Amino acid sequence: MARPDRTIRTERLVLRPFETTDLDDVFAYRRLPEVNRYLYSEPYTREQTEENLAKWTARDQLTEEGQSLALAVTLNGQVIGEADLKWLSREHRQGEVGYIFNPAFHGRGYASEAARAILALGFDHFGLHRIRAECEARNVPSWRVMERLGMRREAHLREFQIFKGEWADSYVYAMLAREYRTTR
Ligand SMILES: CC(C)(COP(=O)(O)OP(=O)(O)OC[C@H]1O[C@@H](n2cnc3c(N)ncnc32)[C@H](O)[C@@H]1OP(=O)(O)O)[C@@H](O)C(=O)NCCC(=O)NCCS
Repeated sequence: MARPDRTIRTERLVLRPFETTDLDDVFAYRRLPEVNRYLYSEPYTREQTEENLAKWTARDQLTEEGQSLALAVTLNGQVIGEADLKWLSREHRQGEVGYIFNPAFHGRGYASEAARAILALGFDHFGLHRIRAECEARNVPSWRVMERLGMRREAHLREFQIFKGEWADSYVYAMLAREYRTTR
């Protein structure tokens, strides 16, 4: 897949590749237990943040399925969160959207705005046919973002995994390219 333009502008935000100088901004939210509550990850140390930033800055295109393109979401030059597009299948043109934001910037629609830009990237730039998203069923803010974008809840997976020590349900949401075209 071709590399996207380096900078994506939305109404209020700029999405761009991560830079090593984003360390303080990213560590500010990745270190928080509440941010990791429904993520597979645990709070990052500063060193882990640095290691992950190095991985994210090294990838600014999708060349093989299985890869993720993580973009820094910035507001007035500050990284307030991240949004990513994972390429799930070349043959079936499938992708997955994800997002993590600094709690100081929750509740203002920034995550929805950034995720909408990722859908546009996936459908318009990469020509994907379907983009899915999955979250722990108790992660209400996460699936509310999916619904705000017009994604459909396709599955409620009951107790399909032990997540951080307890049985957890998961919701799968998705949107097809033709559905995306009707939401614009
Ligand atoms: C998931 C997550 C990104 C959602 O963040 P969020 O702040 O709730 O989402 P948004 O930025 O889209 O904000 C939506 C809220 O802002 C409100 N809002 C205010 N102004 C708005 C605007 N201009 N546009 C849209 N919504 C707006 C909405 O009403 C909504 O509030 P509500 O859910 O009470 O109705 C956040 O909870 C998070 O980072 N969690 C930790 C990481 C995580 O779990 N990620 C998902 C893994 S699956």
